[in-house]
Amino acid sequence: MSLSGSDFELVRRVVYDTSGIVLDPGKEYLVESRLQPLCRHENVPSIPRLVQKLREPGAQPLVTRLVDAMTTNETSFFRDVEPFEALRRHVLPALIEARRATRQLNIWYAASSTGQEPYSVSMMLDAEFPQLRGWIVNQLATDISPTVLERARAGRYSQLEVNRGLPAKYLVHYFTKVGNDWRLKDNIRKMVRFEELNLIKAWPLLPAMDIVMLRNVMIYFDTEAKKRVLSGARRVLRPDGYLFLGGAETPMNLDDSFDRQPYPRAGCYTVKATTLA
Ligand SMILES: C[S@@+](CC[C@H](N)C(=O)[O-])C[C@H]1O[C@@H](n2cnc3c(N)ncnc32)[C@H](O)[C@@H]1O
Repeated sequence: MSLSGSDFELVRRVVYDTSGIVLDPGKEYLVESRLQPLCRHENVPSIPRLVQKLREPGAQPLVTRLVDAMTTNETSFFRDVEPFEALRRHVLPALIEARRATRQLNIWYAASSTGQEPYSVSMMLDAEFPQLRGWIVNQLATDISPTVLERARAGRYSQLEVNRGLPAKYLVHYFTKVGNDWRLKDNIRKMVRFEELNLIKAWPLLPAMDIVMLRNVMIYFDTEAKKRVLSGARRVLRPDGYLFLGGAETPMNLDDSFDRQPYPRAGCYTVKATTLA
């Protein structure tokens, strides 16, 4: 049975209140396609019955699983290429120079999905920045979805996933074939810590970050949530740190404390000097 108007409204409100993800009218088909597998998983016979369960007392664990099911986790290795080129050619060399006394870098991936983004950077650090050996490089990767975090921690990818964006030399060097899948080697897997973090709720205390990767998540939020998340990112960044946004995201008209860096299509920003004063 399909989704009634009032059931869509309830799902829409619950998902928005919990995650900030906006489901505009017209997204009924998306909601339905995500609720069907959830019904099977919950052993519930129909979508209306599932929505009814959301109204019952003690529904919080189901709400968490609903939100998890409603997240869009599209990602790939070295997604969009240019942000990683900017990291390799400009951002990391500048930070390595700036931090040569403390020999520490903190990087946060704020919507890391199944891990391809943090692992792309980790492989690049290992392959191209031997001067970082002996440094402390803390990499924290977070997401609202426990399901993607579990997959990310496992570091196991299908043939299709490694075909998307991963250079052959990295596949050969950093992965082992396990059945039909590819498993990332432990030395790279251990470079990243994965934790659950909801960007639209209060953030835990985070260390000052040199790089914040906040890519392809604000597209799901409304203006107020985008503003709050950008201002949080500004507070967590070191004064000379770098923020990366997705190709369809910008701080323009939301937060004027960022300067865009002139690296083509990298979505790379620094904090304006006037904001720091
Ligand atoms: C499209 S993926 C982006 C992955 C990666 N950053 C990239 O650019 O390839 C968006 C991710 O944002 C996560 N997400 C959605 N709402 C969130 C929230 N409120 N807090 C934290 N993560 C959220 C989703 O679970 C999903 O994994």
